[in-house]
This record gives sequence, C-alpha cells and structure tokens, in this order.
Amino acid sequence: MPRSKIAGIGMYVPEKVVTNNELKQYMDTDDQWIQERTGIQERHYAHRTEETTTTMAVEAATIAIHRAGISAGDIDFIVFATLSPDYYFPGCGVLLQRAMKMKEIGALDVRNQCSGFLYALSVADQFIKTGMYKNILVVGSEKHSFGLDFTTRGRNISVIFGDGAGAVVLQATEKENCGILSTHLHSDGESAEILAMYNPGTHANHWADKNYAAFDEAEIGQMFMSHAMIDQAQNFPFMDGQSVFKKAVVKFPEVIMEALIKNGYNPSDINLLIPHQANLRISQFVQQKLKLRDDQVYNNIQHYGNTTAASVPIALCEAWQKGMIKEGDLVCLAAFGSGFTWASALLKW
Ligand code: COA
Repeated sequence: MPRSKIAGIGMYVPEKVVTNNELKQYMDTDDQWIQERTGIQERHYAHRTEETTTTMAVEAATIAIHRAGISAGDIDFIVFATLSPDYYFPGCGVLLQRAMKMKEIGALDVRNQCSGFLYALSVADQFIKTGMYKNILVVGSEKHSFGLDFTTRGRNISVIFGDGAGAVVLQATEKENCGILSTHLHSDGESAEILAMYNPGTHANHWADKNYAAFDEAEIGQMFMSHAMIDQAQNFPFMDGQSVFKKAVVKFPEVIMEALIKNGYNPSDINLLIPHQANLRISQFVQQKLKLRDDQVYNNIQHYGNTTAASVPIALCEAWQKGMIKEGDLVCLAAFGSGFTWASALLKW
C-alpha cells in the first residue's frame, strides 16, 4: 500500500505587519494585555483589495509545488481548508485550480476551522493510501482581517487573528516507515456556538422572537443578510474564550497521546511538536502536560497571531526552513478549534 509523505512545503504571509499598539487606534486594548494572555506581538494583514484567501494560497502552493520538484500540472487533487473563503460559495478550491491553471482535477473544500488543515491532510492521506492520487495539494489559507469587529466590542477576538497561507504537496511513496504514520480526527458539536460566526446562515435563531409563519418567502429571503443583523454585530465571530481555553488544554494533549500510542511512541520521542497556534498559553500548557522540552515545541504565534487553518502549515514550513526538521525526525501536528473539532497527525519526515 502506498504511504504519503510531504514532498514540498510553502508558506505566505502578507507584507503588512500590524503590532498590538497599532490596534489601539481602533479599540481599547493594550500590548501588555494581549501579550500576557496570548503571547501575540504582531500579525500580518492582507492587502485590502489585491489579496484574498485564494491569492495567498496560490503563493504558498507555488512554493510547495516548486520544492516538491513538480509542476502545477502534476497535481491530481486539491484539498483547501479555510473559514474565510473569497465567496460564500463556490469554495476556494476551484478558485485555486483556476488561478494555478491546473487540469480539471477535483477540488475539495474543508470547513473545519482551526483543525481544517489537519482534516484536509487526513483526507488527502486516505486518497493516497488507496492509490487513487499521487500528488495532492493540501492548503490552509485565511484572510481574517476582512471579517473582524475592530471596535472595543470585538476586541477579545480581533486581536487574536491574523492572515496567511500554508501549503504542502502530499505525495505517494513506497518507502517504509516514512511520511504520515497516522491521523486522528475528532469533534464535539455540543459546543458549536461557543466559537462561531452565526451569520449569514440559514438558522433562524436571531429572529427567535418573531413569528416565522407571519412572513412570506420574500421577507424571509431578506433576513439572510439584514440591516438588523449588521446593527447587532451578528456578522462577526463570537467566542467564549475561557470555555475554548478549558477544552483546548484537555483535547490537545489527548489527541497527541492518541497519535503517539497508536504508533508505539512516547512524548519524549517527538522531535518537534507543531501545535495549532491558538494561543501561546495553550501551547505552553500542552508542553508542560506532556513534559516536553522547549526545543521539542515550535511556536510562532508571536509574529502571526492565530491564522486558523493556515497556522499548522505556516509553523511547519517555518520550522523546516529554519532547519529544525531533519530527515527521519518524528513530527507531531495537532490542532483544536471551533466546532469543537480537534485532530493530530504523526509523521516521520
Ligand atoms: N484588550 C484589553 N482587554 C480586553 C481585551 C483586549 N483585546 N479583550 C478582552 N478584554 C477584557 C474583557 O473585556 C474583560 O474585561 P472585564 O473584566 O472588565 O469584563 C477582561 O479583559 C477579561 O476578559 P476575558 O474574556 O475573561 O479574558 P481571558 O482572560 O479569558 O482572555 C482570551 C481572553 C481570548 C485571550 C482567552 O480566553 C483565550 O485565549 N481563550 C482561548 C481562545 C482561543 O484559543 N481561540 C482560538 C480558537 S482555537
């Protein structure tokens, strides 16, 4: 049975850097609060008009494909993870296929927020293991800066997120004991509304006080995106940060241990853990819980903020570029986020 390995990796972050202090012009916040609670010092924001989730993905994918020593025409399938797509529909997968002038290959969009890249990687891994595809482009890209509440009302969320993209070429290999050893996916929809963007959407909760039967179809149609919704800031993400934190510090170690146990390893065997960059405090908690040394965990949230589906491939790429991952290394990827969903992947580089 073929296995899948990362044959090429790339990342892209927009040029514009926004420091914590710069956010003070929009909201009541301060550098110390943000750094103490999250570790974030700065983040990158996409160019307002010229950059989208797809254009950033193209930049990262181009590097990944080049490093894999293949061309865009060799890609058999695209799996694109994002929560900030260019359009409500169609998804970014087809936009990437068009922009990169790829063949009429399949393009799948994954909506698993912070776990999105690992879900995408796992899907791609299955396609390679079955022998269906040989080269799959797996992408995580986000343009958060366009959809955040930059007033004091939204400060608990807006200061956390940043823009960027990461991509890998997952390639079939016959080589034993290399590449993806296993992936592990989980969800618990009980807490779906704890970290979510409710609108626009087809649920009707925000009109719960109204009698739906009294409206005709045209009026209902207007409610998909209404002035009231915008006035009530319901078009921005909502997060109960403390609940997210409490669940994340349990599920991260759990899903990492699941991957290690499945493959007969201990935390001390990990050469590098790349946790989704949700919050530096969460990563530090996970590190302590698993008794990992500093050099076993890679964090870069300080400079990028939380880039959701892009955070794992960006961190993986940066660590690889710094020479922190060598052939034969045991690398563990893990993520937790909205849904809740959480996931891990264990790789031999
Ligand atoms: N700047 C300054 N003050 C802020 C602020 C900001 N950006 N955001 C919130 N505050 C204030 C609140 O208004 C509140 O003030 P009050 O006590 O006067 O009401 C106070 O700080 C504490 O707010 P709270 O939301 O309880 O803070 P917290 O200690 O829980 O930290 C998070 C907030 C978001 C940093 C923290 O909960 C967290 O990191 N959670 C995990 C989130 C996460 O990882 N999300 C990504 C999903 S994977």
